[in-house]
Amino acid sequence: MGGGRMKPREITSGVYFLGVPHWNRRLFDNLIPLPEGTSYNAYLIKATGGTVLVDTVEPAVSQVLFQQLRDLKVDHIDYIVSNHAEQDHSGAIPQVLERFPKAQMLCSDKAKDLLVTHLHVPEDKVRVMKDGERLSLGDRTLRFVYTPWVHWPETMVTFLEEERILFSCDFFGSHLASYSMYASSEPQLEVASKRYYAEIMAPFRGVIKKNIEKVESLKPQIIAPSHGPIHDDPQRIMTLYKKWIDDKPTNLVLVVYVTMHGSVETAVDHFCDALTSLSVPVKRFDLTVSDVGELAMTLVDAATVVVAAPTVLTGLHPLAVSAAYLINAFRPKAIAATGIISYGWGTKAPQQLEQLMANLKSGWIDPVVFKGLPDRESFESLTNLARKIKQIHERAEIGN
Ligand code: FEO
Repeated sequence: MGGGRMKPREITSGVYFLGVPHWNRRLFDNLIPLPEGTSYNAYLIKATGGTVLVDTVEPAVSQVLFQQLRDLKVDHIDYIVSNHAEQDHSGAIPQVLERFPKAQMLCSDKAKDLLVTHLHVPEDKVRVMKDGERLSLGDRTLRFVYTPWVHWPETMVTFLEEERILFSCDFFGSHLASYSMYASSEPQLEVASKRYYAEIMAPFRGVIKKNIEKVESLKPQIIAPSHGPIHDDPQRIMTLYKKWIDDKPTNLVLVVYVTMHGSVETAVDHFCDALTSLSVPVKRFDLTVSDVGELAMTLVDAATVVVAAPTVLTGLHPLAVSAAYLINAFRPKAIAATGIISYGWGTKAPQQLEQLMANLKSGWIDPVVFKGLPDRESFESLTNLARKIKQIHERAEIGN
C-alpha cells in the first residue's frame, strides 16, 4: 500500500497521464533506497480507432490506477502496451486483463516470454510488435521502437506520432513521488534523474548511447517516462544522459570504507587528507551509514575508486564485499581502482578485492595493506598512493 490518490491529468486532447505516486516506498528491489519515494506512470490514449493503456503500475497500488480509469469513464481497453516487463510496470497487467478481457497486449519480441513466464499472461493475448512497426488507431498512430537494455533486454519505447509523445518507461525516469506533472516544475528533477540513472541505467552506458540516437531521431516534443515527471523539454534530459554516459570521468576519488576498531578509518583519514593536500577532490562513504544511491551517483563521475576494509576470517569485511560487488556491477568509467586493507594475522582480502572488481582491472593499482594500526611506513604508502592517483588523473583526459 502507500500509493496516493491522484487524479488523471490530460497531456493533450485524449491523452492522459495516470501517475500513481508511492509516497512511502523507501526501498526498491529490497536494495535501492528511495529517499523521495517513487511513482509509476501509466498513460491512456483515447483514439477514434481504439483505447490504449500504455504500461500499468506496481500491483500494490493498482487500486489507484483503476480509480483513474473509472474517473475517465473507461469502459473498454483495446490494447495494453507493455514497454517493459518488470513488475513495477507490468505487475498489474493480469488485473487489467481480468477487468478488460478483450484487451490485446502489445510488446517487443523478447518481452513476450518474460510476460508469460513472470506474470502467467495467456500467450494468445500477446501480440509482438516489430522494431519500428506502426499501429493505426484511426486519428492516432503508435510506433514501437526497440531500445534494448534500458535496462532489460526486452525494453522498448512507444511513440505517439501525431503529438510526438514518446512513452519511454524506465528510460529517462526518476524515482520521485511528486505532484509535479512536468519536469520543468520539479526542482529535484536533475538529482532524482541522476540517482535513477546511476542505480538502474549506468551498467548499460554503451547501449544507452545508441538508444539516445534512436530516440533523438524521432524528434519527440515530450518524453513521458513511467517513473517521475514528464519531460516537457526532452533535450534537457537527453543532454544530461549524454554527460553521464560520456567516457570521460571527473577528477574525483570515491572512497568507500568500513572499519571495525578504527585502523582502517585512521588510514582513510590520512589518505583523504593526502589527496586533499594535493588538490584532488575526494568523496568518502562509511558503508555502515551510506546510501547506495549517493555512492552510485558519485560512481557516475569518479576517476578513481578505492575500497577500504579490514579482514574478517581471512577475507574482506562483508560490507566491503557487497560494495565491491555493486561497484563492479555498475561498470563505472573510473580509470583507476585500488584498496586499503588491514589485517591481524593473515589475509587474502587484496586478491579477493581485485577479483571482485574485475571490470576495473585495466586501472588496478596494488592495494596498500597493513598489519594492525597503520605505522609510519603505511602512512607513507598511503601518501604515495595519493600522489600516484593525482598523476594518473593529470595524465588522463578527465574533466573537473
Ligand atoms: Fe521501473 Fe525496470 O522497472
